[in-house]
This record gives sequence, structure tokens and C-alpha cells, in this order.
Amino acid sequence: MSAALSSVSQSYGVLGAAGLVGAAVFARIYLTMSSGKADPSVKLISKTAIVTGANTGIGYEAAKDFARRGAKVILACRDMTKAEAAKNTIIMETGNDQVFAKKVDFASLTSVRNFAKDILATESKIHILVNNAGAAGLGDQKSEDGNHLGLQVNHFGPFLLTNLLLGRIKESAPSRIVNVSAMGHRWAKIDLDDINMEKGSKDTVVYCNSKLCNIITANEIARRLKGTDVIANSLHPGVVMTEIFRNLPGWFRVPLHGLIKVFYKTPEEGAQTIIHLATSPKIEKVSGEYFVDCKIATMSDQAKDVEFAKKIWDLSEQCVKLQDNEKFY
Ligand SMILES: NC(=O)c1ccc[n+]([C@@H]2O[C@H](COP(=O)([O-])OP(=O)(O)OC[C@H]3O[C@@H](n4cnc5c(N)ncnc54)[C@H](OP(=O)(O)O)[C@@H]3O)[C@@H](O)[C@H]2O)c1
Repeated sequence: MSAALSSVSQSYGVLGAAGLVGAAVFARIYLTMSSGKADPSVKLISKTAIVTGANTGIGYEAAKDFARRGAKVILACRDMTKAEAAKNTIIMETGNDQVFAKKVDFASLTSVRNFAKDILATESKIHILVNNAGAAGLGDQKSEDGNHLGLQVNHFGPFLLTNLLLGRIKESAPSRIVNVSAMGHRWAKIDLDDINMEKGSKDTVVYCNSKLCNIITANEIARRLKGTDVIANSLHPGVVMTEIFRNLPGWFRVPLHGLIKVFYKTPEEGAQTIIHLATSPKIEKVSGEYFVDCKIATMSDQAKDVEFAKKIWDLSEQCVKLQDNEKFY
């Protein structure tokens, strides 16, 4: 009797394991088919692209793809050792030596201003700006500029950079701004009387608030630059196996990584929507949209709220101390 029971439980174990493997295989096939793929035939000869956070993750894959298409690519990164290593690998793999690494740390608005000054002094054209750099789990701390650190790295810093480069981006039209947001923008809880979350913050809410601001910034640029040949769009890359989860506690990160390895996108797959928005001729007149898997998707109601967007824009200008002579919209 007990031998019979043990044989039944062994059979269930084998069936369970087979079910898990089957689910993993199914998930992989589904992801590969549904991820969306940027058109590999589009060339970027004589184009200049800036990708922030390009030393790793989906930013690295997007930068490598642009180099492969013939663009001059600037990797805008905070750690120059990692940035130089990424630059050398991209040059080696693509054969394009027009790849450069420059320093920018979004935790410091001075660093953002120095980077923008350098770019404006050296680049006569900027055709593509990908605001990709981002971090999660930075805690309840302030930046040296007095802003919430997580909000500054993910939103205020890129917002300032975009504004400082906007004049050159307009002069370079047709040109494109791509903001890497996240599905998490749906769970944002922005208090307009406390944009900098002075009353206290949770990492998840900081992240979601910053990602809503990324969409709103792209939408506002699209509205303010309507009629020009500059388009601005945002995207969710999917859930991608990158270093983005590095600051999460180990008890959460380790099992999550295990799951992600099996069920979620590779960085190359995750970069496809960025590349699509930066290169596809099919969307050259599409602006102010949110994309998932290389297709237009529905953004949250708050992301579509024009009055709310204007308030976020004005508050962001105040938080980064944007001067009147730095407004190019
Ligand atoms: N992975 C996902 O599942 C997922 C999902 C939705 C949205 N996203 C978004 O995708 C974007 C790229 O993330 P990823 O997944 O590729 O993550 P990642 O591998 O961690 O890459 C993030 C990049 O941002 C840079 N960065 C972080 N803080 C910075 C700072 N203060 N100044 C300048 N650069 C900084 C990092 O530089 P260091 O290497 O020096 O830290 C790195 O190059 C982020 O905006 C993220 O919110 C990712």
C-alpha cells in the first residue's frame, strides 16, 4: 500500500516538474513572439544619438544597435570605467569607431549641466536622445540639490537634460526624444503639494511617480513642439533581466531573478521598443504616445491629463531651477 502511495506521489512530482518546464518553454516562445522587433534595415548614417545609462541593460543594447546602424553614439554614463568598457565592446562588436563615453550623474544637477554644456560645445546635431538611465530602491534621501534622490535620478535630472538640449534637438530635426518609462506609472501617487515627497516616501511609490513623470514629460514636449519635426514618445520595455533590481533586498531579489531568468525578456529584447521609437520611419509623425512591444499602448488616465501634466512640468522646472533663457519650447 505504502509502495503504491509513494509511486503515485513520484508520478505527481514528475508531472509537476514537466508542467513547470512546459510553462517556462511556453513563456519563452510567447515572449519571443510578442516582444516586438525593431526594423533592422533602417540605417542611421550621419545621425547622432545620445543614450543615457548606456553602460549596461537595455540602454547598452540600444546604443550598440544604433552603432551597428552607423550612428555616432554618445554613451552618457555616471561610471567612466564601466562606460569606457561598454564603448570598447560596442566598437569591437560593430566595427563603428564613432562611439564615445561621457560622464553624467543624474544625482547631481551640476553634473547634468556640465554634460549638457559639453555636448552643446561639441555636437552640432542631436538627432536622437534616449532618456534611459534609471534606478530603483534608492531610499528616502535627498540629492545635493535638495530634491528627492530617486525622483531626481529618474525624472528631474533627465527633465533638465532634455530641456538643456532641446534647442539643439529642434535645430537637428527631424529628431526624436525617447523616454524609458515603465508599466509601474499606473500605480503612481503624486501629491502636487508635495512633488518631492518631503512627507515621507516608499521606494515603490518613488519609482512609479518618476515613471509617470517620464511619460508626462514626453507628452508635454509633444504638445509644446507640435508642428516641428521633433517627436517625443515614451515606453515600457517589458520586465527585463537587467541590473535594475540591484538595490532590492536579497530575500526579494534572488527569487525574483530566478523567475525573471526564465519568464522575462533579455536586455536585447527589452531594447526593441526603444530602438523602434528612435528609428522607425513608420512613426515619424507619431508623438506623445506610449508604446509597449513596439506598438502604441494605453497609458494611465493621469498620464493623459493635460492640466495635471502642465502642473508637473511647472513644478519640475522649479525643482531643477530652469532659467528663462533655457526654455526652447
Ligand atoms: N528592467 C526592467 O524590467 C524595466 C522595466 C520597466 C522599466 N525599466 C526602465 O528601463 C531603464 C533602464 O533600466 P535597465 O533595466 O536597463 O537597468 P540597469 O541595467 O540597472 O541600467 C540602468 C542604467 O542607468 C544608469 N544609472 C543609474 N543611476 C544613474 C545616475 N545617477 N546617473 C546616471 N546613470 C545612472 C546605470 O548606471 P550604473 O551601471 O553606473 O549604475 C545603468 O547604466 C530604466 O529607466 C528603468 O526604469 C526597466
